[in-house]
Amino acid sequence: MLLYRSAAWFAKGLREYTKSGYESASKDFVPDDLEVQVPGRAFMVTGGNSGIGKATAMEIAKRGGTVHLVCRDPSRAEGARAEIIEKSGNQNIFLHIVDLSVPKSIWKFVENFKQEHTLNVLINNAGCMVNKRELTEDGLEKNFATNTLGMYILTTALIPVLEKEHDPRVITVSSGGMLVQKLNTDDLQSERTAFDGTMVYAQNKRQQVVLTERWARAHPAIHFSCMHPGWVDTPGVRLSMPGFHARMGARLRSEAQGADTVLWLALAPAATAQPSGCFFQDRKPAPTHLPLARTSSSPAEEEKLVEILEELARRFK
Ligand SMILES: NC(=O)c1ccc[n+]([C@@H]2O[C@H](COP(=O)([O-])OP(=O)(O)OC[C@H]3O[C@@H](n4cnc5c(N)ncnc54)[C@H](OP(=O)(O)O)[C@@H]3O)[C@@H](O)[C@H]2O)c1
Repeated sequence: MLLYRSAAWFAKGLREYTKSGYESASKDFVPDDLEVQVPGRAFMVTGGNSGIGKATAMEIAKRGGTVHLVCRDPSRAEGARAEIIEKSGNQNIFLHIVDLSVPKSIWKFVENFKQEHTLNVLINNAGCMVNKRELTEDGLEKNFATNTLGMYILTTALIPVLEKEHDPRVITVSSGGMLVQKLNTDDLQSERTAFDGTMVYAQNKRQQVVLTERWARAHPAIHFSCMHPGWVDTPGVRLSMPGFHARMGARLRSEAQGADTVLWLALAPAATAQPSGCFFQDRKPAPTHLPLARTSSSPAEEEKLVEILEELARRFK
């Protein structure tokens, strides 16, 4: 089954996730959708120092929004902040140093953040594909700690902050790679099977989609969405998938093309006309399962994921 899913997904990717897939999809875009100015609105972009996150932060800054960059590496992050200020002319760019694989630092960050700031839009963009099994200082597998648990803690901690504001939104940069995975809560720390970083990453991205659907049902005041940016030429892909990066070469999307749907979901009035909780690709809701792939999960399996995350979030507070 995994072989079928992977082959069907790769064929789909070659048609849709590449630069030419973007160019073809963009013929249906409404150009005015992103002709907006957003002074007075605050946006948090995790991993905003690199790749898709930086391209997203830059475009929001150019439209006058307040931007909170949440990054782990002070020197890379400071460089990105300076570049965004210089190119956008927007001084309201704040930097918060947080390692999203460390639950305690996320809790502490949100406690401080909410004393001083408001937030309209959270963009969960930070992500990683670590190809060897590595543990964090808390003994958590690193991909899971960053892509799932970190994103879960940050979002749940910020929901009350977002709910106070007008037109609140949460956008999570998932991945089309999640289409090859069915939700699996049996081995979240990847202890029991041979470690395959690509599949662990894809499983985390599936978990993000499931969480988005559940949050949308539980918090109707906030517009939740998740999305696939396409196959994008970023430092992350170069580092984690060097073979794929070399093979795809010029067929990869630019960072701006990868950021397009994130921006549309964060900025466009048209985005909130779509139901909350959907998975998007090129500004349109897209199916969360491949045909015949048997990747749907039951409410009980989804509930189990949330119970485990809640328990871990409490344990490492
Ligand atoms: N590029 C693609 O083709 C593609 C396809 C599907 C989905 N995505 C998703 O798009 C998002 C952005 O990725 P990208 O391709 O733009 O890669 P990228 O350039 O490597 O950006 C990833 C960002 O996440 C940050 N990050 C990673 N671990 C973190 C942690 N523990 N704490 C805080 N920040 C952390 C990175 O910080 P550092 O700079 O310090 O490493 C970086 O700023 C990811 O969620 C990725 O899974 C990308």
